[in-house]
Amino acid sequence: MFLKHHQLLERNSILLTVAILVAVSIGGIVQIAPLFRIEQTIEKVDGVRPYTPLELAGRQIYIREGCYTCHSQQIRPLRDEIERYGHYSLAAESMYDHPFQWGSKRTGPDLARVGGRYSDDWHVQHLIDPRAVVPDSIMPPYAFLEGRPLTVRETIGNHLLANARVGVPYTQAAIDNAVTDLFAQADPNADTSGLEERYGDKVNMRDFDGNPGQVTEMDALVAYLQVLGTMVDFSAYEPERGNNLR
Ligand code: HEC
Repeated sequence: MFLKHHQLLERNSILLTVAILVAVSIGGIVQIAPLFRIEQTIEKVDGVRPYTPLELAGRQIYIREGCYTCHSQQIRPLRDEIERYGHYSLAAESMYDHPFQWGSKRTGPDLARVGGRYSDDWHVQHLIDPRAVVPDSIMPPYAFLEGRPLTVRETIGNHLLANARVGVPYTQAAIDNAVTDLFAQADPNADTSGLEERYGDKVNMRDFDGNPGQVTEMDALVAYLQVLGTMVDFSAYEPERGNNLR
């Protein structure tokens, strides 16, 4: 029946255009409509929390340096990926990422679960000179991050505020104390009670770059790398339906 009338469409360009528009908008609605209900679309998962100010500052350096041009942060539910990188990424794990860092290029490995896989010292050595720890590496060095003080004192509060505006649940106290929390996380001698109250006691709190005298861009970036993929405790997470992926 369709085939018979198809001639009509093929010979009438206006009608064909209208038909194409109708077909394309159906596809568009199917893709776009669920996004209006994004809140309900993403399943909440225990453990996922907003980034601490130091992690957020490190994330900004990750974006600034273009790490996403070589690294993805998205483990797909395919057997080889799960065996190499760990449990596939859950939507909730990037729900507070603005913008998300899923990436589309893997010149280097996926970093979605790199947190806790290496020591801070390994990361610092690797960022200063990747060849020092991985002889065949083609990753560029980022040694300059080491001595560079983190200059976000004036901006970090607004950075949290901007995230809060787009739905990240930062409290007013978190925004007001952003600078204090940032420096407390990287200082082993600081009073971290406020930081723990706001972000939980699982937060990594230590001097990340091996230079306790100063909070550097290296501290922030390593703090960010060390939290990636560690918020959800997968040993306590039972999939609803049996799957043989793990
Ligand atoms: C030109 C591409 C390129 C860029 C840009 C790049 N990397 Fe890499 N990265 C690689 C490659 C290739 C590897 C694998 C070899 C190695 O471990 O050095 C790697 C490895 C890594 C690893 C170890 C991952 C693992 O599981 O073993 C980390 C962490 C990392 N990169 C972080 C970063 C960060 C942070 C940045 C930005 C400051 C960055 N990379 C920028 C290419 C890149």
